[in-house]
Order: sequence, then structure tokens, then C-alpha cells
Amino acid sequence: MQVTGKIVVVTGGAKGIGRALCEVFHRAGAAKVVVADIDPAGARAVAAKVDGAAFKCDVGKETDIRHVIEETERQFGPIALFCSNAGIGGGFDPLADNAGGTSDEPWSRSWAVHVMAHVYAARHLVPRMRARGEGYFLNTISAAGLLSQVGSPAYSTTKHAAVGFAENLAISHKAHDIRDSILCPQGVDTDMLRSIPRGPQSGDGDLTPEQVANDALKGIEQETFVILPHPQVLGYMRKKTENYDRWISGMAKIQAKMREDFGK
Ligand SMILES: NC(=O)c1ccc[n+]([C@@H]2O[C@H](COP(=O)([O-])OP(=O)(O)OC[C@H]3O[C@@H](n4cnc5c(N)ncnc54)[C@H](O)[C@@H]3O)[C@@H](O)[C@H]2O)c1
Repeated sequence: MQVTGKIVVVTGGAKGIGRALCEVFHRAGAAKVVVADIDPAGARAVAAKVDGAAFKCDVGKETDIRHVIEETERQFGPIALFCSNAGIGGGFDPLADNAGGTSDEPWSRSWAVHVMAHVYAARHLVPRMRARGEGYFLNTISAAGLLSQVGSPAYSTTKHAAVGFAENLAISHKAHDIRDSILCPQGVDTDMLRSIPRGPQSGDGDLTPEQVANDALKGIEQETFVILPHPQVLGYMRKKTENYDRWISGMAKIQAKMREDFGK
């Protein structure tokens, strides 16, 4: 799909990868870029730069997502591309001694932001897209959704669930000409990455948000399901499926090394 002349929504657009997506879509000639973020001042600042519009939105709340969709379509026209990009890095602790954690909080918040946000976008847009016979979702997930995030069970689990939902969205609606891509980088130089301890996510080098956004645009133009800004991830996925037990052992060694380094 070409974004030129299209209406695009980006959640988590105030910063990081989301801001870079807004800028790249604007440069590619999108008719309107809608920046939706829990941080309204940040969303307005990015919207001003891309001649777009800003909405305050907590993506974990269905009413907020529905409001963004309804108001965008009422004010600007049909949404061609909806990017569920907002994410949170909570629950990261390489020293945790129980993968189940100690409370539900990081799990329920990550579930709301990383999974239900994508479900709500589909729930309220698929009927509109089906009626129009076209539409596109870009879901920013992570290589952690295909592999794992050492030190963060809640992040890994919810990002895996997001991959599961995106696959099902693509399968369910291919016949309706609705497309879906998942954007799965490793480390990207943003506030989120800087807020967690340095780890294997940076092993192949951190990319800039702009590099990741450019790859996302290319992937959308080519209608590729999996967009891997770090191409090494494909090799890791192959290794995982070739020999799951060896892969778990390798990841456990990384976990042990992180425990040792962070314990010091
Ligand atoms: N930075 C990385 O290394 C990396 C790697 C892989 C995947 N990702 C994913 O990329 C996405 C963007 O991350 P980033 O690194 O740009 O992070 P970031 O912290 O720089 O930006 C995240 C943006 O999302 C917004 N946000 C957070 N919770 C929200 C909510 N409930 N509702 C609406 N907006 C909300 C924040 O206000 C912020 O503007 C996330 O889904 C993240 O999991 C990041």
C-alpha cells in the first residue's frame, strides 16, 4: 500500500519510533497523520511538525481507541493505515527470582497496552475497512515477540500474544483485502530502551527510530507481514525452531550472565 494521499493514525506517536513513523508518513505524502498518545503535549508537538492532528488517548482503554477512530474519520476521512505502536517497558528485572513475578500489575498493564490496544483497533476499524474493501494495520511489536526478552517475562509474553493476534487478523481478513504488518526490531535508540538495563536486545547494535520507520514504510509498500529492521532476527528465529531445547539453553546462559552482571 502507498501512504501518499492517505489518512494515517499512529499511537504512541509523541516519541521514539512512533514520532519517526509520523515523520516518515508525512514525508511520504500522507494526507493527514493523526498522532494519538497518552501524552497530549507531546502528541501536539509532533502533530504541529507534520501538519497533522493530535488526540489524547490511552490505548489500553477501548473508549479512547474508539474515540480516535470515530473522530479521525468524522474530521478527516477514512483511515487507510492504523499503526498500533504505543508500548511500555515495565516489568524488566534481570535479578527477579520468579518469572511469575510478585503482582499482577505489570502483567495487566502490558496486556492492555501491547495486546488489547491492537484488539480494540481491529474491533472498531475492521467493519469500516471491510465496508470499504481495503485497510492496513501496522503493529509495532518487537523481536521479543518472536524470540524472547531476557529479564522481562511480562514484556515477552504480551509481545508474543500481540504476534498471535496479528497473525490471526491477517488470516481472518486477507479475503477482505485488509493487510497487517508486524514491526519487530531489536534495540532502538529511544527513551524506552534507555530506561531498561543494557542487554542482548542491543547485541546487534541499536538502530535509530528513523531507520526503523523507513523500514516500516518499505514493508507497508511491499505488504510484507514481518518487518525485521535487524535482519539477524530471521536467523535467530530459524535457530529457535530448528532446535528449541538448544535455543532455551543459549537464552538461559544469557540470563545467567545478566544476573551476574547486574548482581555486582
Ligand atoms: N526501543 C526499543 O528498543 C524497542 C524495540 C522493539 C520494540 N519496541 C516497541 O516499539 C514501540 C515504541 O517504543 P519506543 O521505543 O518508541 O518507546 P518510547 O518510550 O520512546 O515511546 C513510547 C510512546 O508511547 C506512548 N505511550 C505509552 N503508553 C501509552 C498508552 N497507554 N497510550 C498511548 N500512548 C502511550 C508514550 O507516551 C510515548 O510517546 C513499543 O511498542 C515498544 O515495545 C521498542
